[in-house]
Amino acid sequence: MSVRHFLTLTDLSPQELERLIQRAIELKRRHRAGLVDEPLKNKVLAMIFEKSSTRTRVSFEAGMTQLGGSAIFLSPRDTQLGRGEPLQDTARVLAEMVDAVMIRTFSHQDIETYANHSSIPVINALTDDFHPCQLLADVQTFVECRGSLQGKTVTWIGDGNNMCNSYIKAARQFDFQLRIACPEGYEPSAQLLHDHADRVQVIRDPEAAVDGVQLVVTDVWASMGQEEEQAKRIKDFAAYQVSPSLMNRAAKDALFMHCLPAHRGEEISEDMLDDPRAVVWQEAGNRLHAQKALLEFLMVGPPAQSI
Ligand code: CP
Ligand code: NVA
Repeated sequence: MSVRHFLTLTDLSPQELERLIQRAIELKRRHRAGLVDEPLKNKVLAMIFEKSSTRTRVSFEAGMTQLGGSAIFLSPRDTQLGRGEPLQDTARVLAEMVDAVMIRTFSHQDIETYANHSSIPVINALTDDFHPCQLLADVQTFVECRGSLQGKTVTWIGDGNNMCNSYIKAARQFDFQLRIACPEGYEPSAQLLHDHADRVQVIRDPEAAVDGVQLVVTDVWASMGQEEEQAKRIKDFAAYQVSPSLMNRAAKDALFMHCLPAHRGEEISEDMLDDPRAVVWQEAGNRLHAQKALLEFLMVGPPAQSI
């Protein structure tokens, strides 16, 4: 069988994603019960980070250790990647030495190029266009708190960024409706909107967009690499802050998620993360469990009983 990569959510089928979420929940339960699962004994993950990270780095590194393997942190500052060694060459070299590669970078095309030259699994740990690992954790969190997302309505508020694009793909893969509330000029990929027109709607007014929905999600207004646009974006997004009073427009049992890091006073009010509807700490913690299920799936395949 040819190697499987995870560059976006559509690299796995809806059925595979569904099983992966269930496996993540199982791995979490087993880990918390003190049970040891080491399907990746002696396996090594290389982690290439061209952008900052707290959650992604710690969850992948801890996850590999818990599964019996290990991880190596690589930054362009101290590898030959930073001195211009081609991605293609790096991909071929690392495949001789490790069992999978995780990459956080700017250009999505770069990670596709890398994957095309990699005989071992490549995982997208965030590009300018997509952040699929975060979606695994978000879906796991919703399933744990409220059950399946199928048939539910989710509202994305804020920038049409890598997380928003990933939510569009998730709407198809996990079968939910998505409303996007963003200012003009900050829409997600036009191609993605076009391809998912049956389940994704842009609604400018945040209050109308949140009305009656089961999940509200936001993210920073200026992503990594957009720091110089911060001041302009704070003005442009001023009407798109998520607060407990905006959440009151959503369904009674609605949840709030944010991939973090968050900026209180910008995309969320000072008190939003203290609201009982916010499940952001559970969401962050699920990065560990969801990615353990992903690493297992890509490196050795799912365990027989969960197929
Ligand atoms: N949510 C997320 O990816 O966080 P980090 O940037 O800290 O990895
Ligand atoms: N959209 C944000 C997500 C950070 C996890 C960024 O790309 O910086």
